[in-house]
Amino acid sequence: MRAGVIGIGRYLPEKVLTNFDLEKMMDTSDEWIRTRTGIEQRRIASDDVDTSDMAFFAAQKAIKDAGITPEEIDLILVATVTPDTPFPSVSCKIQERLGATKAAAMDISAACAGFMYGMVTAKQFIEAKVYKYVLVVGVEKLSKITNWEDRNTAVLFGDGAGAVIMGGVSGDRGILSFELGADGTGGKHLYQDEYIIMNGREVFKFAVRQMGESCINVLEKAGLKKEDVDFLIPHQANIRIMEASRQRLELPVEKMSKTVDKYGNTSAASIPISIVEELEAGKIKDDDVLVMVGFGGGLTWGAIALRWGK
Ligand code: UT7
Repeated sequence: MRAGVIGIGRYLPEKVLTNFDLEKMMDTSDEWIRTRTGIEQRRIASDDVDTSDMAFFAAQKAIKDAGITPEEIDLILVATVTPDTPFPSVSCKIQERLGATKAAAMDISAACAGFMYGMVTAKQFIEAKVYKYVLVVGVEKLSKITNWEDRNTAVLFGDGAGAVIMGGVSGDRGILSFELGADGTGGKHLYQDEYIIMNGREVFKFAVRQMGESCINVLEKAGLKKEDVDFLIPHQANIRIMEASRQRLELPVEKMSKTVDKYGNTSAASIPISIVEELEAGKIKDDDVLVMVGFGGGLTWGAIALRWGK
């Protein structure tokens, strides 16, 4: 029995901040942002909505979609670098609000690769038959650590949450292979002081190389070929980085998720937000082979090959 996804949900704040809005706030242009990043707009959470609120809203939907009750959840893993407070964790906050009384709870700090780390951790508990249901959330309120006077970073990020319930799935569905990695020597290229500080060019080079490598590695580990891949869900950081992964897998444009235009880079939330988007659009079907791949501050990376379906 493999671990897979049995329920999904997401939450996106209502407020839309467009590139044209940013033009009025700093020395930038819609043209620059669109051509360099593929981003057209992003969502920004209001002051009274914190990270745990978004995580809670997304988790509620995933639990409902899975058809389970909160009391049945064994473990809550929340991937975030923007918790409400260092402790209690976001996972403990939503454990209380959901009424997931039986669940253990912890946050995972692996930046934009955090959701991949979360899913892989959940897989271990489920396949060892230690836990039956694990709630994995990717959530960020990056707007609260964004320096709105730094055009190098302010144009890139957005807020949002995505959640999945993981459990045992049937037949040959579920997680087929994974790769997780870290390289602390690159930590200096992307970190939080008070705000996000980034050496964009260095992160870009790392991302292009690592995302491509990780995609190939998970396919090899799963005994699959490039042509077996039905859909690619890359971390939505920058369309140019995403395109490099797509080309590495020799996939046509329509087989790659693109939500970066609407939501910007939502860090740990970008992959689960995209999963929901593509399912709702009918682009992911049962038994499709998905490759998900993320990279981020740390530096960290992670990829998963998964055969979709319960
Ligand atoms: O989840 C992981 C988070 N991080 C990332 O994914 C970031 C990865 N890196 C990138 O996506 C890209 O490096 C950026 C989008 C951040 C920047 O694109 P780039 O093509 O690497 O541009 P650049 O940093 O080389 O800057 C080119 C020019 C510079 O001007 P000069 O020195 O050529 O005169 C920048 O000052 O663009 C300028 N620039 C801007 N201009 C207008 C930088 N930011 C902006 C801006 N608007 N927002």
